[in-house]
Amino acid sequence: MKGAIFFSSKYGSTAQYANWIGEATGLPVFDTKDKKVNPFEYDFLVLGCPIIYYKLYNRKWMKANLASIENKPIIFFTVSGAGPGPKLDDWFANSIPKKLISKIKHVALHGRQIPKELTWFDRIMLIIAGLKNPDPVARKEELKGFDYMDKSSIKPIIDLVKQNINCKYIKV
Ligand SMILES: Cc1cc2nc3c(=O)[nH]c(=O)nc-3n(C[C@H](O)[C@H](O)[C@H](O)COP(=O)(O)O)c2cc1C
Repeated sequence: MKGAIFFSSKYGSTAQYANWIGEATGLPVFDTKDKKVNPFEYDFLVLGCPIIYYKLYNRKWMKANLASIENKPIIFFTVSGAGPGPKLDDWFANSIPKKLISKIKHVALHGRQIPKELTWFDRIMLIIAGLKNPDPVARKEELKGFDYMDKSSIKPIIDLVKQNINCKYIKV
């Protein structure tokens, strides 16, 4: 089985995870901005994107490529501030095309948010969200940022990739 990783990233943390997964598995890694590569050419896909404003950041790409991806096994990793749980499950379910839900294995990874790297718009929106957030941990993260990047957290994705390919490259 021939697989590939397609990621979308706004500030780089999802790109970092995609490259770590690529290094560990030998799968090719593509930014969804690269329109030359068609996911249809692959037997299974690893898709990755952050949650931005409660939605999947690659939802437009998924919609545009639905015909190419809908019949393939998909391992999907999200990168977010929120950890796994009902809130994240809802954001995921609300922005994934319904046809894909049954094909997808979802792994939630924790990301990074550095206030000084954000656009002014994003920074102001996150300050407003933080000031209104009653949860003290989420409030602090929205106002001050966070860095939970952790290479070892890709292990469940590597294990799922192993089930799709008889891959000699796997290094965990
Ligand atoms: C503008 C903005 C909105 C965000 N919205 C959410 C959100 O709704 N829920 C969440 O859990 N994390 C949210 N985050 C955190 C991101 O998911 C996290 O920073 C992620 O690592 C960003 O990925 P990237 O570096 O690949 O763009 C947001 C971050 C930014 C900058």
